[in-house]
Amino acid sequence: MKCAISQDIKAGADLIRNGELVAFATETVYGLGANALNPEAVAQIFEVKRRPYFDPLIVHISNVNQLEDLTLGLSEQARKLADHFWPGPLTLVLPKKKVIPDLVTAGLESVAIRIPAHPVARQLLEISGLPIAAPSANKFGCLSPTQAKHVEEQFGTEIKLILDGGPCAVGVESTVIQCISDLPVLLRPGGVSLEEIESCIGQVRLAEIEDHAETNSPLSPGMLPRHYAPQTRLFIVSNLDEVPKTGTNGLLSLYPIEETCLKECHFSAQEILSPTGDLKLAAGKFFTALRNLDAAGVDNIVALRMPEKGLGRTINNRLERAAAS
Ligand code: TXA
Ligand code: MG
Repeated sequence: MKCAISQDIKAGADLIRNGELVAFATETVYGLGANALNPEAVAQIFEVKRRPYFDPLIVHISNVNQLEDLTLGLSEQARKLADHFWPGPLTLVLPKKKVIPDLVTAGLESVAIRIPAHPVARQLLEISGLPIAAPSANKFGCLSPTQAKHVEEQFGTEIKLILDGGPCAVGVESTVIQCISDLPVLLRPGGVSLEEIESCIGQVRLAEIEDHAETNSPLSPGMLPRHYAPQTRLFIVSNLDEVPKTGTNGLLSLYPIEETCLKECHFSAQEILSPTGDLKLAAGKFFTALRNLDAAGVDNIVALRMPEKGLGRTINNRLERAAAS
């Protein structure tokens, strides 16, 4: 059976309370949600997404008061970040209480928590009255969905309902920060920039790649080198001299490129993220642009590296994972 795409939040809340899955809009990307306190419901997320069980989920809540039931409390820095950026594209990794099933946290002693800002997500959380575990609503390793139709393409026959909230304004996933010790660790760059985080709480540690997948105790099990990937091979270049000369190319860039360069470099498709160089707008368009290039029938997608600041850093992070083999 094909899933419904609607704004019927009440129907979504009923499904969540029944232990079923619902995809829903957030301001970052669409999430695939289940009752975070019900292990059988959560297990379906892993099954449908084909996500490995070692990759823990983010638990979404609507209100800071719920933190008391779910976590062992907030450090001073975590409190500052929560006050400043919630509701919004920030996820805090905090020491967890037992009530959170091990399946949600992949057996870790910590849980990732986010209060989203999108009204669809907020209403779903409020009306269901439950914390909702939700990864991005894409098959494991694939591009994240920023429109209801992207979710339908991948899960149309496997879930019952997608709560449509239009295109996601932020367009990249939340920033994940671990707040367990005195020095917070940035585990994943995302919708809140490093500059914004540091102006709120001072310097944070940046998780190194070796903190992630290859060690025995990765800080963030889900930060695999290859992720967020299109089907088409992707190259990241710093200038147009590095563009592959064989086959046809599709260009992803912040600014428009001159017509003569397009021809010289065999570009038969192009996606411009923001002609004015606005990195927030660029992030909002990023995943849809990659999807368009993936569907354009080119041999290679060539991405011109973004400036390494603000959300440019987040886009570069996603590009590097998409390009990894
Ligand atoms: O914007 C977002 O964050 C979206 C929307 C739906 O909220 N969600 C999302 O979830 O991107 P997901 O599952 O695609 O990414 C969650 C990331 C993974 O890299 C995971 O490893 C990490 O958060 N994570 C979750 N719990 C963790 C924990 N306890 N400790 C460290 N990392 C954790
Ligand atoms: Mg994801």
